[in-house]
Amino acid sequence: MQNWDLFYKTKNSISRVNKFFLDNLLRKIDLRVKNTPILDLGCGNGDLALKLAKRGFSVYGMDASKEALGIAQKSAEDQKLSRKTFFYQADIAIFPYSEVLPKKFPVIFCRHTLAFIKQKQKFLRYTKKLLDKDGVFVLIIPVIIAGAKNLSQKTRNISIRETALEKLLKNTFSNVSFFHTDYNGDDVVVHTYICRI
Ligand SMILES: C[S@@+](CC[C@H](N)C(=O)[O-])C[C@H]1O[C@@H](n2cnc3c(N)ncnc32)[C@H](O)[C@@H]1O
Repeated sequence: MQNWDLFYKTKNSISRVNKFFLDNLLRKIDLRVKNTPILDLGCGNGDLALKLAKRGFSVYGMDASKEALGIAQKSAEDQKLSRKTFFYQADIAIFPYSEVLPKKFPVIFCRHTLAFIKQKQKFLRYTKKLLDKDGVFVLIIPVIIAGAKNLSQKTRNISIRETALEKLLKNTFSNVSFFHTDYNGDDVVVHTYICRI
């Protein structure tokens, strides 16, 4: 696994979640806020988790990096969101990730993390098992689109080929739809998928 502790110690500079994007996404999913638990897999420094907690959700964040979780926890305390956020250190490439989670979630997020999981199909199938019967998996992920050339090594490291990814998603979920595409920097394309059981 990449040295994420070192990354968060020295950079802590992953793009933040745009609040208008998040509000539009939540409207699309149509969640009832009160007592709704949300799982964020690979939550990193907690940016998304805290934005969700601020909107009234109870958010469970899992990440392998102690350093990232330390930042997340400290931010939760600073923003007085500790009661709404539950951060756990776990390797989400090992199943089950944890016994400490609630049994089922109406929504699970995974942002900029799937590229780092080796057994992607297994990960997706296991994640699906944690969803309610009407549950939604939101995947935010840099992709390599067909025909893309001369991509930087950095872009390759964080991305998955779009065609391979969509095959994995369609193998796992009955309904996979696009919510949004971002075009970042010179060569990064980030898709947001809404996947339903
Ligand atoms: C690019 S960062 C994204 C973090 C966050 N989701 C965001 O959008 O800012 C990838 C995160 O995945 C976590 N990660 C990578 N492999 C993991 C694994 N096997 N188990 C748990 N976390 C993992 C890293 O520690 C890191 O925080």
